[in-house]
Amino acid sequence: MKTIFSGIKPTGTVTLGNYIGAMKHFVNLQDEHDAYYCIVDLHSITVDIDRVELMNNTRALAALYIASGLNPEKSTIFVQSEVKAHAQLGWMLTCLSGMGELERMTQYKDKSQGKDRIGAGLFVYPTLMAADILLYDAELVPVGDDQKQHIELTRDLAQRFNSRYYETFKMPEPVIAETGARIMSLTSPDKKMSKTDTNPKGYISMLDAPDVIRKKIKSAVTDSEGIVRFDRENKPGVSNLLEIYSLLAGISIKDLEAKYDGLNYGVFKADVAEVIVAELEPIQQRYHELIDSEELDLILDQGRDKAELVASRKLAKVEKAMGLQRKRAKVKK
Ligand code: TYM
Repeated sequence: MKTIFSGIKPTGTVTLGNYIGAMKHFVNLQDEHDAYYCIVDLHSITVDIDRVELMNNTRALAALYIASGLNPEKSTIFVQSEVKAHAQLGWMLTCLSGMGELERMTQYKDKSQGKDRIGAGLFVYPTLMAADILLYDAELVPVGDDQKQHIELTRDLAQRFNSRYYETFKMPEPVIAETGARIMSLTSPDKKMSKTDTNPKGYISMLDAPDVIRKKIKSAVTDSEGIVRFDRENKPGVSNLLEIYSLLAGISIKDLEAKYDGLNYGVFKADVAEVIVAELEPIQQRYHELIDSEELDLILDQGRDKAELVASRKLAKVEKAMGLQRKRAKVKK
């Protein structure tokens, strides 16, 4: 049994990309491991976000975690800002990091591009993420493809800390699936599907109504070849839809290509939409039961208490290692 940690930001809505690239794996991994799944709200404030929207998103994401199959009996589900050790260790790891290595983070480069004001929080984002992971001695971190570089930095920081002070942190490994780790935008299939896309047609939200899903898939960008064939390079739109279909329906891409041989994109897209609707409908139903329930608060309170216990112990060890401890006067008795 290994320890797992992962998180999703409550910025905007949760997309089908988050679900396929991360959440589905969270659910599969919880049976065999000691799992911590966090709603990383401190990461959401690295960009401008309305306070009420953030509060709503945090609760919605917690409800979606559980509605998707996370079981609070097996997994510790909690809100990052409620466990203060995250921000504290984040600061300590920031002090251990160099400007150069943070400047090299591609997510930072993408998110800061073209902005006149870049928040310092966005810059040190990966050190907070490293703190999330290292506080729990997580060995496995299930994520989509875009987080790989951040986990590499986490490993570098852990190693640096262990050699500068003494062995304190375990070395985490990313768990990135071979397929589905990078679901693409429906409108620009050369870019990843993102919850911060200004065009909502580019993503499927986990809470989109069935008809909205059908419309979005119908208008998804494909190509003029008219053949349902997997070729990521030349047919990124169709390949993305094939990947989504295959992962949700559990049918291989080869079998899907055979199934749609000679059929047009209209028929194919209609089926892709139905597969997504069938996956999300029961999740949405459970979500609506949970969102205003006291049950959700109890789960999050319990998760916070359990996470707090583990995290504060680790933080104390880190403080000791770094010398963040007051020397006391020797009192003569
Ligand atoms: P976030 O909130 O952007 O995304 C959450 C998870 O969803 C994955 N993901 C995708 N997977 C496939 N296709 C996509 N289009 C797609 N879009 C997003 C992400 O890779 C991620 O796994 N920094 C993290 C949150 C975080 C975290 C952590 C993760 C904070 N602390 C500690 C792991 C461990 C992030 O921004 O995720």
